[in-house]
Amino acid sequence: MRITVNGLKVYYVIAGAVSRPAIVLIHGFPMGSEMWQSQIHALKRNYRVLAYDLRGQGRSETGDGQFTVESLVDDLIALLDELRIERAILSGLSMGGYVALRAIERYTDRVKGLILCDTRSEADSNEGKLARASTIKAIKKDGVRRFATSFLRDALSPSGFSDVRLVRAASRIICKNRPLGLCGTLLAVAARTDTSGFLPKIEVPTLILVGEQDRITPPDLSGRMHAAIQCSELHTISHAGHLSNLENPSDFNRRLLEFLYENFGGQ
Ligand code: MLT
Repeated sequence: MRITVNGLKVYYVIAGAVSRPAIVLIHGFPMGSEMWQSQIHALKRNYRVLAYDLRGQGRSETGDGQFTVESLVDDLIALLDELRIERAILSGLSMGGYVALRAIERYTDRVKGLILCDTRSEADSNEGKLARASTIKAIKKDGVRRFATSFLRDALSPSGFSDVRLVRAASRIICKNRPLGLCGTLLAVAARTDTSGFLPKIEVPTLILVGEQDRITPPDLSGRMHAAIQCSELHTISHAGHLSNLENPSDFNRRLLEFLYENFGGQ
């Protein structure tokens, strides 16, 4: 389904009964809501699950390509308003985590739980910003398909990258993206704020998951978030890199369901 928020058409899927606790799945870069298929399937019986494509990615519109993580938070809140979801559990993977952390910082009362997967609270270092600049150049020069392969080589564990079916499925999601949207997203991510100072103020139950072989947001960054967020629990997902929900969906979903059940009921 598509809905207009802040002047742009946003693609979303929603499943599960209205009476159930709402959980919003926010995807990473350069993906789309499709990356959450296994989690939607696992959660929809007991929760109201919303997954959507961020502005500039998947089937959502990009607009003029000039946006920030603040715009992505504005879109998330407008989407919740449109769908009449007052409070939600936000689950973000990597860039989705940047959006979730900034959303709870700006709209604390709208968030009743957090799930931070393969993400970090720190903003980009100078080195990180320069890497974004090179990626923008590479996408413009060589296109999305070639970028998909280099991204997956870094994002998946070595054994995940040798799994032809997994690589094909993830590439298919990435290749639905357009260069303008991906480059706009890279600029937005490079300009994001550092949310580390807010972590000690988080008072909602928080689950932190990280692939044991995550090289993009390595486990020690999750350890730092866990130390700073009082009401958090941290679990490492074995046999997984940065896209831990795709590489080891059974362990990922088990941790997700256990956390949700313990903190929000729903079974
Ligand atoms: C993501 O998975 O969202 C990206 O790898 C995040 C990033 O590049 O910082």
